[in-house]
Amino acid sequence: MNPPLEEVTHMDNVKLSDDGRSVVIIDQTLLPNSLEYITLSTREEMFEAIATLRVRGAPAIGICAGYCAYCLALQAPHDSFDDFYSRWEEDCRFLNGARPTAANLSWALNRMLDVAEDHRDMPVETVLAALKRECAAIHEEDMEMCRRISEYGLSLLRDGDGVLTHCNAGPLATSRYGTGQGPLFLAKERGMDIRVFADETRPLLQGARLTSFELQRAGVDVTLICDSMASIVMKNGWVQCCMVGCDRVAANGDTANKIGTSGLAILAKHYGIPFYVLGPTSTIDMDCPAGENIKIELRDGEEIRSKFFAEPAAPQGVRCYNPAFDVTDNSLISAIITEKGICRPPYSESLKKLFE
Ligand code: MRU
Repeated sequence: MNPPLEEVTHMDNVKLSDDGRSVVIIDQTLLPNSLEYITLSTREEMFEAIATLRVRGAPAIGICAGYCAYCLALQAPHDSFDDFYSRWEEDCRFLNGARPTAANLSWALNRMLDVAEDHRDMPVETVLAALKRECAAIHEEDMEMCRRISEYGLSLLRDGDGVLTHCNAGPLATSRYGTGQGPLFLAKERGMDIRVFADETRPLLQGARLTSFELQRAGVDVTLICDSMASIVMKNGWVQCCMVGCDRVAANGDTANKIGTSGLAILAKHYGIPFYVLGPTSTIDMDCPAGENIKIELRDGEEIRSKFFAEPAAPQGVRCYNPAFDVTDNSLISAIITEKGICRPPYSESLKKLFE
């Protein structure tokens, strides 16, 4: 029996603890087999949770970073602003090193740092109150952003369409509904009939473990496929578009997202299928001119060699190359859907307009 739809779309995956001093997250590494919350109190626990993808997905990382920064501020010395700030800024810098590609991590931390700077001449208690408001605002804004992105995304779908997705950009990766998969939940809410094909997303299986879990619980018609099966699904005419999230969008529209996204976009171009990127403006990095300037996170080869297998699936010690993301060239993207509207090529112009 599926839970009510709202239980899936409005999942509380990141929040403050009841005493307001720690961050509580769903440990996404345990899904789909177990839905458990864990509490993050120290900066080491926070760093580890982000680096090992217990909390993941660019917007959720940003929301978590805001709450983590606030909780670390509570732990910093309170006697003078300078003592407070020098210790806390160091904590924020430390957290910022947890994952390099998702723009929302540094975006959220910088928002928190800016708020503290703006209250420099005030008592530390006042600074803390302002930081508490700011991390809550980051979270609330994300809910509104996701809702708008999902609405715009839904306007690109017709009843009966098939949609191919990659990785997880649903409620678990955000605050509500999601971005890349937000329209699919909204379609369900509106009674539309959408068929979804979810790439399993090697090597960490976000599509298998998280996307198919969320969509199935929501009662959406979802079929899980291996990444290598996307081509046959497209050739068979089963999907009318691809919808994916994003981790960092450069000023020219080049888009970093989960490894495998760019290959999907190349396939979609071959088969004449629209390829849509959905994400909040907080993921657009106007200081990053093009994809070649995006730092790609490299991860442990053990994720390919042995993780998720009862026994290692590859010879011990075999060299692995394990980039967590790749960059999709802007020429392959049919539209970038943000909370402010749908951007079409040329992206260097349409994205710029979002910030005017
Ligand atoms: O490594 P992950 O699981 O954090 O990667 C997530 C993705 O690539 C998502 O598509 C992206 O962050 C958008 S989430 C709304």
